[in-house]
Amino acid sequence: MDNKLGEEQEMIRKMVRDFAQKEVAPIAAEIDDKGIVPFENIKKMGQLGLLGLTVSEKYDGGGADVISYVIAIEELAKACASTAIVMAVQNSLVCAGLEKFGSEEQKERFLRPLARGEKIGAFALTEPGAGCDAAAQLTTAVRSGDGYVINGSKHFITNGSFADIVILFAMTDKAQRNRGISAFVVEKGTPGFTVGKEEHKMGIRGSNTCELVFTAVHLSAAARLGEEGQGFKIAMTVLDAGRIGVAAQAVGIAQAAYEAALKYSKERIQFGQPIAQFQAIQWMLADMATRIEAARLLTFSAAMAKQSGQPYSKEASMAKLFASETAVWVADRAVQIHGGYGYMKEYSVERNYRDAKITEIYEGTSEVQRMVIARAILG
Ligand code: CAA
Repeated sequence: MDNKLGEEQEMIRKMVRDFAQKEVAPIAAEIDDKGIVPFENIKKMGQLGLLGLTVSEKYDGGGADVISYVIAIEELAKACASTAIVMAVQNSLVCAGLEKFGSEEQKERFLRPLARGEKIGAFALTEPGAGCDAAAQLTTAVRSGDGYVINGSKHFITNGSFADIVILFAMTDKAQRNRGISAFVVEKGTPGFTVGKEEHKMGIRGSNTCELVFTAVHLSAAARLGEEGQGFKIAMTVLDAGRIGVAAQAVGIAQAAYEAALKYSKERIQFGQPIAQFQAIQWMLADMATRIEAARLLTFSAAMAKQSGQPYSKEASMAKLFASETAVWVADRAVQIHGGYGYMKEYSVERNYRDAKITEIYEGTSEVQRMVIARAILG
């Protein structure tokens, strides 16, 4: 598959790989340790066009195709999974939603600066009681005059504490359940909108995750994204694409863990020879390489389905399910190959092992992906 990439896709891979290996990988351990992706690097991603890579050129984006996007995410995630998710959320969950469902005014006002990387976005769907069951929203948006008043809180929000623009989901009509959910665009600084608790996580520790609180936040009707009651479909639509990005992130984490294990197995001498000479290690490496390639191909396949305008919900879920379980498995094997050293923070596989786990959870757990796939095949 890699051999068949077009010129533009190869250019993007080279550009992102250069940036990721020179400016991200050397500080990945520090990002993990300090729990923050430096703003300087986020700014550089913006200057490279990565924060609006898939937005059309009409709105100052890179106009890149979906394969280029997954290549970029994989390359970044190979260097640092926390950095990759900043880019993925911005492109898939925020910009794509605004471009597909936003009014012309919203695109001018919000999408353009996001695509140029001047502003950062967040996607606020999850609540303490609305995780897998995303329709169980307690945040409310009550009609008031010609606008809405928002009350509620969201948690586990990526990029939340520094996001300039938040895509928010709230219940406008509880009786309608999922058809009563609407989406809104909320700007940082809007009275009543505050940042709550910041989370300390097992992995992707550099990625910001926090609570967002909305207390009597007044929004105009122009802040609504799409039609009233269309919010759940907007969330599901952007999450379909988001899941392809998470699959690519998982492939990148797995690739990093595999490459570290491969290198280590050739250097580590035990019983008088490099451990790569032992069949036990060889088989692990063979299985790791095979599963990664399968995960990458499923990810490319979902990306191609999206690019060509075909339905891709099932394909995105298959890619995310398989790639995330592969990342967890490969990172586990990579730690095993490193033995005691793999358990130490000095070795990058320890971070890969912790980072991999989230890919089985966010943007829909593996159980949710299996629900989506099963519903698609059963009809
Ligand atoms: N695209 C468009 N519409 C869709 C859709 C899709 N992929 N999937 C479902 N819908 C529509 C259905 O057609 C249905 O429409 P009608 O009411 O008109 O019939 C409606 O949505 C409800 O569908 P379901 O009955 O299937 O909904 P459900 O309540 O059973 O839930 C679910 C389905 C797949 C479990 C869904 O709730 C889900 O995906 N849950 C996981 C949520 C999730 O991924 N959260 C991640 C948070 S964001 C995050 O992690 C980002 C981050 O920070 C990194």
